[in-house]
Amino acid sequence: MAAPPTAPGPAPPFLDDVCPSTGAAWRFYRTEVERADQLTNGRAWIQAFEHVLQNMPRPRRQLVPSISDSGDPRHTLPSYGPKQRNDAARAMRDPAATPGLPEAARTGFGRQLRLPSGDEVLVIVNVGRKAPLQLPRKFRDMSLEELEPSIIVAAARCPHMGACLNEGEIKDVEDLAGGGRRAVVRCPWHNQQFDLHSGEGEGNASRLPLHHARVLHGALYVGAPLPPGARAEPARAPGAAVAEAMDVDEPSAAESGDALAGQRAASPGADQPLASAARRQKSRSPRPPGGRVLRQMNTIC
Ligand code: FES
Repeated sequence: MAAPPTAPGPAPPFLDDVCPSTGAAWRFYRTEVERADQLTNGRAWIQAFEHVLQNMPRPRRQLVPSISDSGDPRHTLPSYGPKQRNDAARAMRDPAATPGLPEAARTGFGRQLRLPSGDEVLVIVNVGRKAPLQLPRKFRDMSLEELEPSIIVAAARCPHMGACLNEGEIKDVEDLAGGGRRAVVRCPWHNQQFDLHSGEGEGNASRLPLHHARVLHGALYVGAPLPPGARAEPARAPGAAVAEAMDVDEPSAAESGDALAGQRAASPGADQPLASAARRQKSRSPRPPGGRVLRQMNTIC
């Protein structure tokens, strides 16, 4: 990915992009996130969660038949179930229950935002296949540009019945199919899990909507599809003009396993790839900042 642009003038409140082939438009909204310490370190949250979980009341030992000899029942220690895991996530938010826990771990594993489009999203970082095994320095000292590859933005509400996913948990699990690791979110209400790279439900037919994210002008921009038939604003369209500001290389779905590609295929016109060829075209004059006032980003859930 090319270095973020240093376009003159104030950061625009949003940037539009269009797919040259279909004309479907996406709008990337500037968020209030400008520094790493405004996000939660996903891997650190998982470590804290596991620590809290291990200190929760242990599941009852059970007497079960031995697999090899049913006449020789043995005690087994069941693993932590959804109830214990939800209790641990809840305890992390309560300073009285978990004194000494870093404050950054108390607000859930993700940063919750409401976009001007109305989309409620969850920004998750430093988990999954693009997160380095070890950060080169402290998380809060990293720049957004450095963290950008591992930034995942997903819908904040569970597609099943709308639970706040930030009250559940994330896992960084081994990717048995592709090697490496992948991130999974577990819903606290009915325990459904979703792959954060594809949005696909694990063992269920639901799909968690995912959003594009870009770091531009020193801030995090999160994309939301414009309604079908909507056109990008002329000040920022066509895609080539905005693409210069984004200046990213979009790998094919096959190359990246990019899950948003599957989402685009499932919902034609809802999410279109940024055209690499178009975005490489350079506009010669700086674009004016957006004329709209960015609506306040509210904390949700
Ligand atoms: S609301 Fe999330 S699994 Fe039911």
